Amino acid sequence: MIGSGRIGAKSRRILITGGNAGLGLALARKLARRHSLLLSGRKSQREVAGTLPPGAGYVVADQGDPEMSAQALVRGIGDFGWDSLDNAVLNAGVGFAAVDGVDSTDAIRQTLDVNLLAVMMQAQALFPLLKKSRGTLSLIGSVAHKGSATIPAYAASKAGLHGLARALRSEWSGQVSVQVLHPGPAKTGLHDKAGYDSGRMRAIFLAPDDVASMMASAIAARRSPVTLSWVRYLNGGAYTGRRL
Ligand SMILES: NC(=O)c1ccc[n+]([C@@H]2O[C@H](COP(=O)([O-])OP(=O)(O)OC[C@H]3O[C@@H](n4cnc5c(N)ncnc54)[C@H](OP(=O)(O)O)[C@@H]3O)[C@@H](O)[C@H]2O)c1
Repeated sequence: MIGSGRIGAKSRRILITGGNAGLGLALARKLARRHSLLLSGRKSQREVAGTLPPGAGYVVADQGDPEMSAQALVRGIGDFGWDSLDNAVLNAGVGFAAVDGVDSTDAIRQTLDVNLLAVMMQAQALFPLLKKSRGTLSLIGSVAHKGSATIPAYAASKAGLHGLARALRSEWSGQVSVQVLHPGPAKTGLHDKAGYDSGRMRAIFLAPDDVASMMASAIAARRSPVTLSWVRYLNGGAYTGRRL
């Protein structure tokens, strides 16, 4: 555990999983001056030192073991000195490019464990902390939740998040706001790690900072589901909307 969660003049207590890279890190950098942040990832504290925004805490929570990851987050929040959460942004995710349209059994298991099962376990474990501040749970899905060639297990995991958000939004109504945000393709390391060659298409992927801006205003607005893609961006989505 790095850091302490004393918030002083900072207003919200925000947990961001997958906060050491890509969209999670871009969101953390955007929010760090105004809010108190606790980030998580699979990498060790030594590996991420120097990457995180000043003052942000960090907890290792490997979602390859869904139950342990939920326990690690709850323990990390306590160690950080927090007894409640205003926002939990469950953003960590992985993908594996399917070979000839077929995902390996291992890829299916890892994808569902990290992207769906861990999020389900974490959501349940974080509910009491969010309830204390009538907070917001934000699940980071993908436009691929509607189905996408080359990444069937990934698409299924994100469709699962879509259904989970709908269920929890009604189940927890009046206690915790629940939403799912579906980003479009962004220039992060996700695709390379997945073994997916985006080729020339990458040129039109959105910048992580712009997606993070749209994430922040969508989180502030608490609506669900919200698609964060080129259409929203071209309509000024990265520069307008509510401020978190
Ligand atoms: N980039 C896109 O085009 C795109 C589009 C739509 C949706 N999304 C979604 O946006 C979210 C963030 O993606 P990104 O593009 O920012 O990807 P990224 O740059 O690859 O970052 C992924 C993050 O997830 C964490 N993570 C991966 N496996 C983990 C595990 N087993 N346990 C704990 N943490 C783990 C990583 O931490 P470590 O580095 O410590 O492993 C990292 O912080 C994902 O849910 C992704 O599906 C991305």
